[in-house]
Amino acid sequence: MSDDINKLPRPYSSEGMDASGDARDIDVQRIHAPVIREHNEPRDGLEPIPVWMGMCFGALLFWGGMYMSSNSGEYRGDVYDRPEPKPVVFKVEAEPTDEAGLRKLGEKVFAQCAACHQPTGEGLPNQFPALNKSEWVAGDKASVARLSRILLYGMSGEVTVRGNKFNGAMPAWGSQLSDTKIAAVLTYIRSNWDNKAGPVFAKDVKAARDAVGSRSSAMTAAEIEKVPLDAIDPGATPKK
Ligand code: HEC
Repeated sequence: MSDDINKLPRPYSSEGMDASGDARDIDVQRIHAPVIREHNEPRDGLEPIPVWMGMCFGALLFWGGMYMSSNSGEYRGDVYDRPEPKPVVFKVEAEPTDEAGLRKLGEKVFAQCAACHQPTGEGLPNQFPALNKSEWVAGDKASVARLSRILLYGMSGEVTVRGNKFNGAMPAWGSQLSDTKIAAVLTYIRSNWDNKAGPVFAKDVKAARDAVGSRSSAMTAAEIEKVPLDAIDPGATPKK
C-alpha cells in the first residue's frame, strides 16, 4: 500500500529529489525561502513615529512658538486691522492779503491769461494787446477801479494799446475768479515785466463789483475811460 503512495505523482516539482525520491523537506524550505527573505508586509497600526520625524516636528513647533511670540502684536485684537483712514484735510491756503502774497498767487492765476497775452506780457499783434507797458495796466490810463472793471466784466470793442489798435473780446473773469484772485493777477501784471504800479486788493475788486452790479456785456474802452482816473469805488483802498 505504501509503495503505491510513493508511486503516485508528487504534488511538487520533481527537482531535488533525493535517492528515495522524497522531495518533501526540500520543497518546504524552498517554498518558504522567499517568505524568510522578504520583509514583513507593512500594515496599518499605531507604530511609534521615527525619532528624526519627532525632532523635525519639535523644531517646527519651537520655531512656530518663537515666531508667534515675536510677531504676536501683543495679542491685541485690532493689531491687524487696517488703520483708521485719516480724515482728508484739504489745506486751505490762507487767502493772501499782502502785496507779496497777492503777487505770488497772481503769478499762478496769470497762467490763464498767458494763452492770449503771452507769458512775456507782450500779447500777439492784431489779436491780443500787450499787458507789459500797457497804458491800461500801469500807465496813464490805468487805475485800480478801471482795471477791476476790465477784469470783472471783460472787454470788447476797439481799444488802443501802446499805439496798436485792437478790436477783440476778452471774456469776463468776474464769475470765474474770486475777488482775491482778480486782485492777485492784477497785482502781478502791474508789477511784472517793466510795469511798476501798486498792488490791487480783494476789497478793491469787490468795491468795483458792488459799484457796477451784475452786468452781462463786456466793458468797452470808451466806457472805461469814463471812469475818472482818480475814482475810488466806495469801500476800496483809499489812495495814499
Ligand atoms: C481769450 C483771450 C484772453 C484771455 C484769456 C485774457 N485776455 Fe485780456 N484781453 C484780451 C483781448 C482780446 C483784449 C482786448 C479787448 C478789446 O479789444 O476790447 C484784452 C484786454 C485786456 C486788458 C486791457 C488792455 C491791455 O492790454 O492792457 C487787460 C488789462 C487784460 N486784458 C488783462 C487780462 C488778464 C489779467 C487776464 C487773465 C485773467 C486776461 N486778460 C485774459 C484777450 C484775453
